[in-house]
Amino acid sequence: MAWARGLGLLLVLLPVVGASKPGIVVRLNKEVLSYVAEAGKVPLRQALQVPIPHFLDRSGQVIQPTRIQILNVHLPYLQLKFIAGFGIRLSAATNFTFKIFRVPEPLHLMLPVALLADTLVAQGSIGTPVVSISACYSLFNKAIVFDGYNSTAPTLLAPLQKHIKAVLRNKLCLRISNLVQGLNVHLGTLTGLSPVGPESQVRYTMINAPNITKDYISFDINAVLFLLGKPIILPMDATPFVLPSHVGTSGAMATVGLSQDLFDSAILLLQKAGALNMDITGQLKLSNNPLNTSTLGQVIPEVARQFPEPRPLALKVQLDAIPVVTLHTNNATLRIQPFVEVLAPDSDSAFQSLFSLDVVVNLSLQLYVSEVRLQGTTSVLGNVQVTVASSNVGFIEMEQVQSLMGNVFQRPLLDHLNALLSIGVALPSVINLRYIAPEVFVYEGYIVVSGGLLYQR
Ligand SMILES: *[C@@H]1O[C@H](CO)[C@@H](O)[C@H](O)[C@H]1NC(C)=O
Ligand SMILES: *[C@@H]1O[C@H](CO)[C@@H](O)[C@H](O)[C@H]1NC(C)=O
Ligand SMILES: *[C@@H]1O[C@H](CO)[C@@H](O)[C@H](O)[C@H]1NC(C)=O
Ligand SMILES: *[C@@H]1O[C@H](CO)[C@@H](O)[C@H](O)[C@H]1NC(C)=O
Ligand SMILES: *[C@@H]1O[C@H](CO)[C@@H](O)[C@H](O)[C@H]1NC(C)=O
Ligand SMILES: *[C@@H]1O[C@H](CO)[C@@H](O)[C@H](O)[C@H]1NC(C)=O
Repeated sequence: MAWARGLGLLLVLLPVVGASKPGIVVRLNKEVLSYVAEAGKVPLRQALQVPIPHFLDRSGQVIQPTRIQILNVHLPYLQLKFIAGFGIRLSAATNFTFKIFRVPEPLHLMLPVALLADTLVAQGSIGTPVVSISACYSLFNKAIVFDGYNSTAPTLLAPLQKHIKAVLRNKLCLRISNLVQGLNVHLGTLTGLSPVGPESQVRYTMINAPNITKDYISFDINAVLFLLGKPIILPMDATPFVLPSHVGTSGAMATVGLSQDLFDSAILLLQKAGALNMDITGQLKLSNNPLNTSTLGQVIPEVARQFPEPRPLALKVQLDAIPVVTLHTNNATLRIQPFVEVLAPDSDSAFQSLFSLDVVVNLSLQLYVSEVRLQGTTSVLGNVQVTVASSNVGFIEMEQVQSLMGNVFQRPLLDHLNALLSIGVALPSVINLRYIAPEVFVYEGYIVVSGGLLYQR
């Protein structure tokens, strides 16, 4: 990749990271809790299948060790709720069915258990969300004997229940805690690197404790951009990004706000890396290729004089000025100012500069999300403004050159930009989690992505 040359020098020129910008807010609305509760039923049921040690039956003459097995854990009710300023409360109603391997016939018991657990959501030391159980209770109802009751001595039933409850009281909360701990490994993948463009990447970290209300949990996220594996600090103002409350689709699981800073930074990164620059070379073989000196000679006499034989032209397109992204309500635009140098090979086949142009193009920017990436595509908005920056071929009649040059570089430049923008920027996410039916909204100075979430192993 030609643009990658000189990146070493660039890295020396760019200072190393330190600021906590640009801002992103990820807000998970209460709808996400219904989804998690539904998805969490199977793993929770599995986790609650704890082994029960043998019960020592002292109701007879000899002490009889009796095997106990959990046949089923029924989980008719599981609810998750935000606790403002703290975390998430889990409440569940379960029915445990036990088989007591007793002679002469087995006994079947059902034990309704209510579970309550409070989960603290905090910021981990490396900027990942960390969840932990702060309080957990299991509340037991009376056991129901539904098989083998007739042959059960009441002297057995009470100590048997006591034994089972003591075991569950110890183990159920431990299992819930383990389940929640397992989530942390997953949440840690938030800080994984993902590509932004060629040789550039982004890493997201939480910058403070999450803000939790009864309706949502929101995370302030910082994006650190990397070029060739090195973190880059970008010039920007220090106003923190605040996501207004009623934006995006109401009732969506996730609302992600991305500040203008993120766009400016990503574009700046691409520009500094030289990824936006391109060369457009005419090929003589293609008979309809207008990129040749004979076409140009028709509008610039000096070109015709210097190149009596047709020669292919080369255009060097440089984006030295940083492209400007503007976000207005329902309207995202990208303004680029390419510097275009028009070259032709002289008799020694070395390229010489004929003239150069300052170009201004306004592009409309359409944004969309695919899987977890915010991508864009552009199209030209209004006129392409072209002025001559320098000329080695005398006076240039701008009107004629404008239409000729506009046509030859506009399409390849748009194709090049669109190819870069289609790489897109990964939205903050964790492994195996995708956005479902995401919608992109453009607001004054920021954009919002809202949609559902889908967890898929
Ligand atoms: C679970 O136990 C409760 C309380 O005894 C009972 O009302 C409910 O019907 C049971 N559910 C099932 C599916 O057995
Ligand atoms: C238990 O005893 C009652 C009354 O003696 C009888 O009607 C019932 O069928 C017995 N149940 C079982 C499961 O043996
Ligand atoms: C947390 O949410 C409350 C209520 O919406 C809001 O007033 C406060 O500014 C938020 N704090 C942060 C740090 O976002
Ligand atoms: C130069 O471009 C013109 C206009 O497209 C084309 O008609 C002509 O064949 C080209 N000449 C060469 C030598 O490629
Ligand atoms: C978006 O903004 C640009 C520049 O202000 C304007 O030319 C264009 O018409 C606007 N487009 C829409 C759809 O509002
Ligand atoms: C691009 O948009 C800006 C701001 O809307 C406007 O001032 C400028 O004239 C436009 N330039 C071109 C070449 O359309």
